[in-house]
Amino acid sequence: MKMRLLWMILIGMLVGRCHASVVLDIFKYMQRTADYQPQHVHLAIGETNQDMVVTWTTFSPTPRPIVEYGIKKLDQLAEGTSQKFTDGGSEKRAMWIHRVTLPNLLPNTGYMYHCGSSYGLSNLFYFKTWMNGTDWPVSLAFFGDLGAENAQSLPRLQAETQKGMYHAIIHVGDFAYDMDSDNARVGDEFMRQIQPIAAYVPYITCPGNHESAYNFSNYRARFSMPNYDETESLYYSFNIGPVHMISINTEAYYFLQYGLKPLSNQYQWLLEDLKEATKPEVRAVRPWIFLFGHRPMYCSNSDKDDCTKVNCRTRVGLPVVHTYALEELLDTYGVDLAIWAHEHSYERLWPMYNYTVLNGSITEPYTNPRGPVHVITGSAGCKERHDSFLPNPPEWSAAHSTDYGYTRMTVYNNTHLYWEQVSDDKNGKVVDTVWVIRDEHVSYAQLRG
Ligand SMILES: *[C@@H]1O[C@H](CO)[C@@H](O)[C@H](O)[C@H]1NC(C)=O
Ligand SMILES: *[C@@H]1O[C@H](CO)[C@@H](O)[C@H](O)[C@H]1NC(C)=O
Ligand SMILES: *[C@@H]1O[C@H](CO)[C@@H](O)[C@H](O)[C@H]1NC(C)=O
Ligand SMILES: *[C@@H]1O[C@H](CO)[C@@H](O)[C@H](O)[C@H]1NC(C)=O
Ligand SMILES: *[C@@H]1O[C@H](CO)[C@@H](O)[C@H](O)[C@H]1NC(C)=O
Ligand SMILES: [Fe+2]
Repeated sequence: MKMRLLWMILIGMLVGRCHASVVLDIFKYMQRTADYQPQHVHLAIGETNQDMVVTWTTFSPTPRPIVEYGIKKLDQLAEGTSQKFTDGGSEKRAMWIHRVTLPNLLPNTGYMYHCGSSYGLSNLFYFKTWMNGTDWPVSLAFFGDLGAENAQSLPRLQAETQKGMYHAIIHVGDFAYDMDSDNARVGDEFMRQIQPIAAYVPYITCPGNHESAYNFSNYRARFSMPNYDETESLYYSFNIGPVHMISINTEAYYFLQYGLKPLSNQYQWLLEDLKEATKPEVRAVRPWIFLFGHRPMYCSNSDKDDCTKVNCRTRVGLPVVHTYALEELLDTYGVDLAIWAHEHSYERLWPMYNYTVLNGSITEPYTNPRGPVHVITGSAGCKERHDSFLPNPPEWSAAHSTDYGYTRMTVYNNTHLYWEQVSDDKNGKVVDTVWVIRDEHVSYAQLRG
């Protein structure tokens, strides 16, 4: 670009044009290279289920960001904020991230929208809001570890999302591989690739180890989860139908170079959140509690990851001092389901606590389980490919698969949920299914007596 500018100035001088017109040419050239078009358009649920947050990127600064939206026509307008984000790499590439909240939407209603500014608008997209209240069947897709390269599950997820199969997509950490790579161009590429999903349903996230560069800066800048102003998408919770969904940052246990505060703040918050969600009158109307985070506390993979170890940090707390242990919280507060990724495989565990299997009954292990249920779903597809399993799985490992794929789940009502594992390698074949039935959503410790 510098060379072209020099040539223009030189040619301008050679043909004897006046100074002002050379400046005008340069100005026109800069105008052409400025990039005001919205990219990476994606949705997130807002502070309440009546709000939707639209986030996008431009590579040049624009006037105030707007979303025009409506049910039959684009007759509503919302304004938001812009943030300049500078990647930490050598080029210090800058981009502008724009966030707009669409407030007070009607439940169970289709909306169309486009986003941008007076300098340029996106394509027209649409979404359907969630239903009101707690009494409706919720459909979700879960997966982790989806990269920009070898993103094998992506086409199937795009097709299913646009057919309206899911109320939300939950990406359980590890994006792009990595978002900061090549001065964040890999992050840009990834955000472009997920737009056909993420512009249509809330794309809900938590950070993984691949987001750690520059204190998780790409992750924090590019997503807009609930409570964004305080926790920058690192941890938060929200409600969807009969489910209270908690997203945590397991990386706070591992990247201690960024300080202990991220971990202690999160833990305090988590305790309060669980206490609130398990108040009898709250749980009576919204009984399910799911917790998701990137790194599992159990796994039977043949790598040497922390989840293969008895003293896994997220399970028993930090080394030696054993503070901020999570497994006892899952048990005490009767968390129904713990969803993890990081291992590039799928694994379902029998209900268990502290390495002890706690099946509901001999014939129906997931009917009134006596311990938390864990699932690890980190095989959406990335350039690191698969992680394999130990030849002799431990007794707590119920099912596993190394096929690329993702997890589909339906929470039918207060007592019944179903999930299935989709194998992309086997053209969408379902390779594992399970029903979890809980008649009473109480502390497991209490249940065991
Ligand atoms: C949603 O349901 C609640 C309680 O049932 C009710 O108070 C509220 O008005 C409903 N909201 C909408 C937008 O229908
Ligand atoms: C990293 O980011 C977190 C969350 O924004 C912040 O609390 C922490 O102080 C940061 N750490 C460093 C070393 O900058
Ligand atoms: C878990 O089991 C180990 C070994 O049996 C025991 O030492 C430990 O106290 C147990 N932890 C909890 C929280 O029950
Ligand atoms: C749990 O249930 C499964 C399926 O019925 C069974 O194979 C397994 O042995 C049970 N484990 C224990 C410890 O009861
Ligand atoms: C909950 O959903 C399951 C599965 O669809 C169904 O079998 C069960 O009867 C439902 N329970 C209630 C109380 O509606
Ligand atoms: Fe990971």
